[in-house]
Amino acid sequence: MVFLRTELCDILGIRYPILQGGMGPYKTEELAIAVARAGALGVISSIGMAASMLPESAPIDPVRLFGTDTPQNLLRKSIERVAQEVKPHNGVFGVNVPVASEFLPASEMFVRQVIASRESDSDIERHLRVLITSAGNPRPWSVVKKHGLIWIHVVPSVYHAKKAEQAGADIIVASGHEGGAHVSWDPVHSMVLVPAVVSAVARPVVAAGGFCDGASLAAALCLGAVGIQMGTRFIATKESDFEQIWKETIVKHDERGTLVGRGILGPMRFLRNARAEAIVRQTLSDVPAFYLGEPVASNSKILGLEREGFDALLDGDHDNALMFGGECSGRISTLPTVNDLIQSIVREAAETIRRVQKVVLDAG
Ligand SMILES: Cc1cc2nc3c(=O)[nH]c(=O)nc-3n(C[C@H](O)[C@H](O)[C@H](O)COP(=O)(O)O)c2cc1C
Repeated sequence: MVFLRTELCDILGIRYPILQGGMGPYKTEELAIAVARAGALGVISSIGMAASMLPESAPIDPVRLFGTDTPQNLLRKSIERVAQEVKPHNGVFGVNVPVASEFLPASEMFVRQVIASRESDSDIERHLRVLITSAGNPRPWSVVKKHGLIWIHVVPSVYHAKKAEQAGADIIVASGHEGGAHVSWDPVHSMVLVPAVVSAVARPVVAAGGFCDGASLAAALCLGAVGIQMGTRFIATKESDFEQIWKETIVKHDERGTLVGRGILGPMRFLRNARAEAIVRQTLSDVPAFYLGEPVASNSKILGLEREGFDALLDGDHDNALMFGGECSGRISTLPTVNDLIQSIVREAAETIRRVQKVVLDAG
């Protein structure tokens, strides 16, 4: 068995320097359990649970996905279940809370619930160690550190990384434009973004966007990161909470199989199908400024993201299903268990690092 130990492992108490990305609309409860049991950081995703608090135009039907429980109860129960399931394996997990201004009432409620859950139960406190905020202003959230949480913030640029550092984030995730679902207005990819963020901030940096195997984990370490965060790769696993059609689409697509168009509150990377193509066509005709990186003010009309896209997903309609995913879907061709996946990534990363070391020849 091989271990790859970085500062990330020491800070979070995980065996491998791998984070699972938060991935609404699902709770990613099964995935968080499997990832934490396998020695990486499992993450519960909160944003889908808040669908009933979003405007009518929200593209998912919360009742169809989660029943009628309140968002707060959904998160509380999810935390309790994941803590119970990972305890025998000494697993560590976190909760992802997107903090875009449009979600703030939900974000604040979820963060309060994370703190309350930890205070209510010493097992939860031991295993739920991390809050990962994303998609918004980091400034209000350093307060979670006073409650014993490790605070990670996700950023798409050096500018935002510096803001996260000033706000006191313990770890910064630099998320490149290859990634699935929300991407930045500025199309800066991981190869440029990660080393730029590493040299701009004095905090450990985790690389996200395009990472899916041992070679890319080794590359992230070479770029100065202390680990990787993966979304798309974890969707295509046996345990992940996603629909089978979503997993199979990732396995089938090549590296050209994604498109960026206007999504919920900003640009998103979709898995290419008829719906994604229609969204991009609408984006080009209705909001051409989008592709110049100019923010589009009004979100009153969410292009192509009507509920029928989500219904089509649940009905297994491949062409019309609304599905997000990253460019690395082109490098994914298997549906392994999470444990097998993590083991193979770590093994391959170690082999890659050993192989690459051999190119160094010291003269004299
Ligand atoms: C389907 C999907 C949903 C996502 N939802 C969220 C989310 O709710 N919150 C968040 O911070 N990031 C979200 N992300 C981004 C991931 O956490 C992760 O940073 C990203 O997938 C990394 O790039 P990769 O897809 O190339 O691995 C989502 C990604 C995908 C593919």
